[in-house]
Amino acid sequence: MGRHKFSLGSRPRVRMPTPEVIETSRLRLVPFDERHFTARYVGWLNDPAVVRFNEQRHRRHDLSGCREWVEAMRAGGHPLWAIETNDPALGHVGNIAAYVDPANRVADVTILIGERSAWGHGIGVEAWQAVCDWLLARGRMRKVSGGTMAANRAMVRIMERAGMHPDGIRTGQFLLDGQAVDLVHYARFAPALA
Ligand SMILES: CC(C)(COP(=O)(O)OP(=O)(O)OC[C@H]1O[C@@H](n2cnc3c(N)ncnc32)[C@H](O)[C@@H]1OP(=O)(O)O)[C@@H](O)C(=O)NCCC(=O)NCCS
Repeated sequence: MGRHKFSLGSRPRVRMPTPEVIETSRLRLVPFDERHFTARYVGWLNDPAVVRFNEQRHRRHDLSGCREWVEAMRAGGHPLWAIETNDPALGHVGNIAAYVDPANRVADVTILIGERSAWGHGIGVEAWQAVCDWLLARGRMRKVSGGTMAANRAMVRIMERAGMHPDGIRTGQFLLDGQAVDLVHYARFAPALA
């Protein structure tokens, strides 16, 4: 038997994607920076309507907690973008992040549009699609995924419209208003792997 190219103890060659500015027709997705730490951002996380389907709903938020989370994302190399609209009256309306597993080249995407007046105008689908495309191309990911409570119909539609397919269900994973609801996962592969 010939020698293995890599010893069993060798570490996989891995690379975290470095987030870049992503432009779409109405949005600029900007790597999250100092100017995005605002009371408005903290307010989104403390708005029960915004976090209704989100595990952030279980506690109060403050600026220092937000900073800790953003720092942890940065330290872990997980890309985080602020969603800025071209409409100056709206500006920064939310954030979109990717939890990257570099060894397996998979990324799990999460989105929060906190500015409620921006809901229902296609911003969510535009940001989601752009980040998934970026991760599969520039980010060299094999697979992008997302998950939400089945009751979050807007989020399910966003994942379907972004060309994702069902990727598993965790039955009764969450309690929403005292009722058990499923966690539904969706995923899309890089074109060569689809
Ligand atoms: C979920 C969220 C990202 C949706 O963003 P949005 O910009 O309002 O969504 P869009 O306008 O792009 O709409 C996407 C689809 O959802 C549908 N939709 C929007 N709001 C809806 C609602 N309240 N109920 C059902 N469908 C809805 C739209 O009609 C569209 O579907 P269509 O293409 O079939 O017409 C946004 O509301 C949000 O961030 N909410 C708070 C945080 C959250 O729930 N994040 C996801 C947790 S994983």
